[in-house]
Parts: sequence; structure tokens; C-alpha cells
Amino acid sequence: MNVEACGVSDDDRRPPVSDLLEVAQRGLALKPKRLPSWLFYDEHGSRLFEQICEQPEYYLTRCEIALMDEHAGSIADVLGSEVRLVEYGSGNARKTHILLQHLQAPVSYVPVEISSEPLRQSVGRLAREFPQLPLQPLCADFSKPLRLPIPPSAPRRTVVYFPGSTIGNFENREAAALLRKMRNEMGDAGGILIGVDLKKDPEVIEAAYNDRAGITAAFTLNMLTRLNREIGSNFELSAFGHRAHYNQMIGRIETHIVSHREQQVKMGRASVAFREDEAIQVEYSCKYSLADFAALAAKAGLAVLRVWTDPQQMFSLQYLVRASTVAR
Ligand code: AVI
Repeated sequence: MNVEACGVSDDDRRPPVSDLLEVAQRGLALKPKRLPSWLFYDEHGSRLFEQICEQPEYYLTRCEIALMDEHAGSIADVLGSEVRLVEYGSGNARKTHILLQHLQAPVSYVPVEISSEPLRQSVGRLAREFPQLPLQPLCADFSKPLRLPIPPSAPRRTVVYFPGSTIGNFENREAAALLRKMRNEMGDAGGILIGVDLKKDPEVIEAAYNDRAGITAAFTLNMLTRLNREIGSNFELSAFGHRAHYNQMIGRIETHIVSHREQQVKMGRASVAFREDEAIQVEYSCKYSLADFAALAAKAGLAVLRVWTDPQQMFSLQYLVRASTVAR
């Protein structure tokens, strides 16, 4: 279905498919080779990501849902009444459902999602479950400046909700820039409710990105299937593998697609050469201590007002406000 037909506004600033060839050519010309992680999320990739969230090793989603289950009441109290909730990358609706059930008289919910079909489906479900709640879906790339729809009535505050520790997929400087962008969008009285994965035993972290069922590996390699389909490259899937390693010094999972052998891959009119064991860097998933994240927030002019975490300190939900509004 056309996105407009279901009331989704499309800000039309996603990269056109014709740019994909350029993105791939540019990334594969870098040394070391690199492809952006947004390439994971075509329709199949988004479905695989949902499956990752259900894997026993992938503790992030389970921990965040448990935190939301336990603390949604106090989170809603901190956010206050008549909130406009803007969710960045509104993939997994479950956490949002719990939050929406507890919010007091929310003014509107604005899910921002780059993939139109998952957005349309989650809006359909929410409309049935929350018939009184004004829904204002926006099909857009949340990392770019957003044209937020005009709310149906004036909210007391705009809260940007960014669950899943997706902030960890941005390198430090980009993460600070993204937090600063949220800070602008939420205004003086606003806040950011954000899911942040915490540093822990490296083995636990590494297992989460190397699940035994091979779902994460399929998710990683789906990037090549997508390129083959959309730009006509000829990556041979069996000639590449998934590698996710925890870099303890930096505190991040580094995911690569690794060439099993020396080979050439067609890319437009040219071709790209791979050496045996040569890697394409495709994703970082940064892990933070509470102090690391407070420092990152401060770089963006934000202060951490509240933190909710589990007894093992596996994961955290944090509420950030403009640093200038916090009494010292
Ligand atoms: C979306 N993001 C927070 C996930 C993560 O944990 O970095 C993406 C992911 N990649 C592999 N597994 C999950």
C-alpha cells in the first residue's frame, strides 16, 4: 500500500535507490572497506532483526522490556502528562506499548521509521489498541533533521524516545551530534528517554552478536543479498562470512563481513577486488558505563536526570534533559 494511503507522512529525504550504487562503490573503495549499517534494514533485514531480538543470547531486548515492565509507572511520572512522544526508529512496538499504556493523556505519538511497511503495520496495530491516541507516523531517516507533523494540541513537552541502544550504532562524535539534534527537536522543556546497553562480561556481549542459530550472521550477510538485488552486484554469499568481535579497549562490538577467498565482485561497470580474509566493516555496537554515557550526553549539552537499571546492570533506560535546565 502507498504510504500516504494509510496516513503516513513521508518526508521524502531517504536516499533514492540510484544512490545505492554510489554508496557501495564509495564504501568499498575505502581502506579498510566499509559499508553503512542502514543497509541491513530492507524488508527481510528488518524481519531478521526482529528474530535477533528473540534469540536467547541477545539479552538487550529482554532486559529493556523487563525494565519497562517494572518501571513504566515511574517513567511516566517523570515524563509528566500531555507529552508528545516522538520515537526514533520505531521497530519493536512492544516497549512502546508498555510506555503508552502508562503515559498520562499523551497529546500524540510520532513513530519515525525509514521502512514504510513495518511503520504502516505497527501504526495499524497501535490504532486498534489505542483508539484515543492521535498517531502521526513519519516515514523518514531519524538521523537527518526531521519535519515533525504539527501536533493536534499543544504538548507540555516533547519526549524523544530512542530505545534498543541504537545510539550505540553511532561512533562517539556522530552519537553526540544525534543527541544534539534530538535536543533541538525536543525544545527547552523536552526530554530524551533512551535505552543504553552497558559494559559487562565480554563473553556475554560477544555471544549476543554470534547467536547459535545463526540469525545475526544471516542478518549481516543479507546486506550483500540486498546489494545484489538492488544494484546488480554479484556477491557470492557462500564466499563471505559474518564476524563480530568485542573490542574491549574501545568498548564496542565490531561487525565485519569477511571474504573467505581472493575474489572479484561486479559493482556497476567496475569490479571490486577482495583478498582472502579481507573484511568490510559494517557495524559498531558501542557499550557504555553509566559514566561514559553521562559524558557523551554532556558533549551534546544534556544531563542525565534519571537512570533505571536492572540489579545486574545489564542494560539501562535513561532520561536526559537540557543541561541548562538542571539546578547545580
Ligand atoms: C539496532 N541495534 C541496536 C542492534 C545492536 O545491538 O547493535 C543491531 C544488531 N546488530 C546485530 N545484532 C543486533
